[in-house]
Amino acid sequence: MASSPISNLFLLLLSLLPFLPIFSASNVNPSSSLSANGDNSSWISPSGDFAFGFYQLNNTNTFLLAIWYANIPDKTIVWHANTTNPVQAGSKVELTASGLTLNDPNGQTIWTAQPNTTVSYGTMLDTGNFVLSDTNSNFVWESFSYPTDTILPTQILPLGGMLYSKFSETNYSKGRFELHFTNGGDLELNRVAWPSELLYLPYYSSRPANLNSSESGFQLVFNQQADIYIEKENGGVVPLWQNITQSSNSYYRATLDFDGVFREYTYAKTSVSGQSWSIVRYIPDDICMVLINPQLGSGACGFNSYCIANSGTPSCHCPPGYSFMDPNNNFGGCKPNFPQGCGVDDGTKKSEDVYDLAEIQGVNWPFGDYDSLGPYNHTQCKQSCLNDCLCDVAIFSNTTCWKKKLPLSNGKFEFAVAIFKEFGEEERAILTDWAYDCYMNGRLDILVDNDEAAIEDNVTLSRWILTAIWCIQEDPSKRPTMKMVTQMLEGYVDVPIPTTTTFSYSSS
Ligand SMILES: *[C@@H]1O[C@H](CO)[C@@H](O)[C@H](O)[C@H]1NC(C)=O
Ligand SMILES: *[C@@H]1O[C@H](CO)[C@@H](O)[C@H](O)[C@H]1NC(C)=O
Ligand SMILES: *[C@@H]1O[C@H](CO)[C@@H](O)[C@H](O)[C@H]1NC(C)=O
Ligand SMILES: *[C@@H]1O[C@H](CO)[C@@H](O)[C@H](O)[C@H]1NC(C)=O
Ligand SMILES: *[C@@H]1O[C@H](CO)[C@@H](O)[C@H](O)[C@H]1NC(C)=O
Ligand SMILES: *[C@@H]1O[C@H](CO)[C@@H](O)[C@H](O)[C@H]1NC(C)=O
Ligand SMILES: *[C@@H]1O[C@H](CO)[C@@H](O)[C@H](O)[C@H]1NC(C)=O
Ligand SMILES: *[C@@H]1O[C@H](CO)[C@@H](O)[C@H](O)[C@H]1NC(C)=O
Repeated sequence: MASSPISNLFLLLLSLLPFLPIFSASNVNPSSSLSANGDNSSWISPSGDFAFGFYQLNNTNTFLLAIWYANIPDKTIVWHANTTNPVQAGSKVELTASGLTLNDPNGQTIWTAQPNTTVSYGTMLDTGNFVLSDTNSNFVWESFSYPTDTILPTQILPLGGMLYSKFSETNYSKGRFELHFTNGGDLELNRVAWPSELLYLPYYSSRPANLNSSESGFQLVFNQQADIYIEKENGGVVPLWQNITQSSNSYYRATLDFDGVFREYTYAKTSVSGQSWSIVRYIPDDICMVLINPQLGSGACGFNSYCIANSGTPSCHCPPGYSFMDPNNNFGGCKPNFPQGCGVDDGTKKSEDVYDLAEIQGVNWPFGDYDSLGPYNHTQCKQSCLNDCLCDVAIFSNTTCWKKKLPLSNGKFEFAVAIFKEFGEEERAILTDWAYDCYMNGRLDILVDNDEAAIEDNVTLSRWILTAIWCIQEDPSKRPTMKMVTQMLEGYVDVPIPTTTTFSYSSS
């Protein structure tokens, strides 16, 4: 039998079938629904890279209606419905001809995505965009149009577009920072006067790179090549960063993190055990410095704290005798562990008997002094604060002594000595914790008060500090013998990094 052209065509089509993208397979039809019941029910993109559905929050029975990376162990969320609170188990999202409706377990509607046209179907795209389409397959709603803290390659922020950070690493409530692509076409990062909605002046602005208003920006683009730039009305481009060498085998995302840093991250698609998101680039360079505001607010770390940035990542620390206000959130500021101010003692004891003084080098709270005295030496400065019941902290630098009351704000790395009043014998304990923190944050320079020679011989310095930390381990069996100590100090043996942070101060 001679093959007809028609049957040839049929065979050809049949052979092509496995290579045709099967879009329909991933489409979600009206009357489909998902329930928050802990079985990870979701709608997956064709490649399996992204999922839309209920994401169970760590160790809770609450969920976010979210989009996340579904193909990697670290199921990072890239979008979530902006409900006021996470939703309870038993909540349900349904796709109907009018769009998406999220109901709580009692059937109360708590969130909707309802465009003004009839919806034919929904699709979780491989880009991470969940879209609703009309009968002509036009997108009538896109999650990309309502970003939370993250944008993805191929996503665009139009004029007036914004991102908002989450509250903390694990709390997805609206946090303390916003990214705005302003109506003037500039990219700005702002701190929120949390918990109000008021914004402080931007701590980052693309304006200097974008000055010529005759050609202002009109959209912020995150392109397929993982570059982020402002595109101008006239087609010109203002790069936000230098271009990177993009790997097609990696995921990319850009997130306004809860610490106020806007970071681009990458993650290799091929499984590498123990892999986590790595930072490609970030703005601003030093969040601790840019959040300093002489008039208002606490700085990056909250009141009574100080901030140290390491490769753009801030870490927050409490001064001696203070501890984190919220032990689960280092960015929430610190509180003193003892009563403050005048009237604390009944006046029968000398202040020397009530208070100890603790000092830290290389930290300053540069604003809000109530007095400055000088020329004073270090001893006079300490004595002056000790004898003054209003004085909670004194800063000594050169020959000047600045006196301060709480709360302290905008604490940062600077050449100065901060003198703290504290009750009792805690100071050595706290200073040791501080030394350990400095070591773990790679800031030995602060420990040795910027002694150039010491910093240059970083290897020796590290060895000595680690040895010291081993010698004061609370568990005596963990302390090295004297012979071992000698060998550690001289570099004959490697000094491992201690993992326990409980220390002993007895002079035994
Ligand atoms: C849901 O996902 C989590 C995290 O991937 C996993 O540990 C858990 O076993 C999954 N639950 C079910 C019912 O599949
Ligand atoms: C989940 O909770 C456990 C225990 O509280 C904690 O160790 C872990 O780091 C948490 N994971 C995330 C991703 O928050
Ligand atoms: C969620 O976003 C929509 C659209 O941007 C906005 O109108 C609404 O007020 C937001 N809801 C909450 C709870 O923030
Ligand atoms: C429907 O929504 C689109 C986009 O949100 C808008 O441009 C259009 O004017 C709306 N149509 C009607 C009839 O409201
Ligand atoms: C998240 O943070 C907000 C703001 O502080 C708080 O109201 C809420 O209770 C927190 N949520 C959780 C689950 O801790
Ligand atoms: C601003 O842009 C206009 C039009 O592109 C150009 O003629 C002008 O020289 C530019 N001005 C500056 C200061 O670059
Ligand atoms: C950087 O990327 C932009 C946009 O993709 C492109 O126009 C430009 O030529 C690139 N610049 C360099 C130096 O590669
Ligand atoms: C500090 O100044 C006082 C008063 O001038 C003086 O008595 C004291 O010796 C000085 N201390 C030091 C360490 O220089």
